Amino acid sequence: MATSLIRRAMNMTSRVSSSAVSPASRLVADRPYASETEAQKVEPKPAAATNMKTFQIYRWNPDNPTKPQLQDYKIDLKECGPMVLDALIKIKNEIDPSLTFRRSCREGICGSCAMNINGCNGLACLTKIESGSSETTITPLPHMFVIKDLVVDMTNFYNQYKSIEPWLKRKNPPPTAEKEILQSKKDRAKLDGMYECILCACCSTSCPSYWWNPESYLGPAALLHANRWISDSRDEYTKERLEAINDEFKLYRCHTILNCARACPKGLNPGKQITHIKQLQLIGA
Ligand code: SF4
Ligand code: SF4
Ligand code: FES
Repeated sequence: MATSLIRRAMNMTSRVSSSAVSPASRLVADRPYASETEAQKVEPKPAAATNMKTFQIYRWNPDNPTKPQLQDYKIDLKECGPMVLDALIKIKNEIDPSLTFRRSCREGICGSCAMNINGCNGLACLTKIESGSSETTITPLPHMFVIKDLVVDMTNFYNQYKSIEPWLKRKNPPPTAEKEILQSKKDRAKLDGMYECILCACCSTSCPSYWWNPESYLGPAALLHANRWISDSRDEYTKERLEAINDEFKLYRCHTILNCARACPKGLNPGKQITHIKQLQLIGA
């Protein structure tokens, strides 16, 4: 009897308490730790934390030719894309429109944003901003004449490329008149590791031999392209091409240090292609 009285009293209590609570409390019944007032509060967003980073950038202006200097720019990485080129564009757009650098494709195709980032040559559009280190230093490609800020004079580099005659040369007309000259899959594969070059000059400007003899040594990029045409089964000037670069300075300044392979943002190995040319010279191909 006493037990049934206690049960009835408990049921009544629970009915009274459930009818007295507001609909909102019922909604938050699953969150017993939150009061009604707390549940109705809009949770304030945490204040946007900033992630400031300093970029030290080489500056030199031919119109005011004082000593070159590194200039500091601070930007918030929370409001910037992930790549070094994103930072440069942000600085130019929002802080200093006079900052000068080359860029075009922003996806590692045109080769124009080559520069030295924290001591290594690379493409600004393919180099991630290091979040850990306190500052990032950006300078022009080493041992090149500077035109302004990060823009270097590529004339010598392009002339060297031109000197290896980077086009198909034939002594005979095509086997089928007015048709392309076919190549087997095996012959086509011989061009892998060379045709991908975007002429960014990261390799040549990281090569110590090129630093000391930029006018007489062709450098890894031009020699890679020389080998590209020497290796092309459709080209009929292999012998002449080999003779043209069989020179103490043009070719043999390469000492296989392989800085070039380390610097190439496309993962190519110009040193290996130069070795191939030297091997052909040896066997008198
Ligand atoms: S391997 Fe030859 S081309 Fe490449 S960095 Fe060394 S010396 Fe220069
Ligand atoms: S070999 Fe690589 S580093 Fe050298 S010019 Fe070509 S893409 Fe650039
Ligand atoms: S912008 Fe074209 S390679 Fe970087």
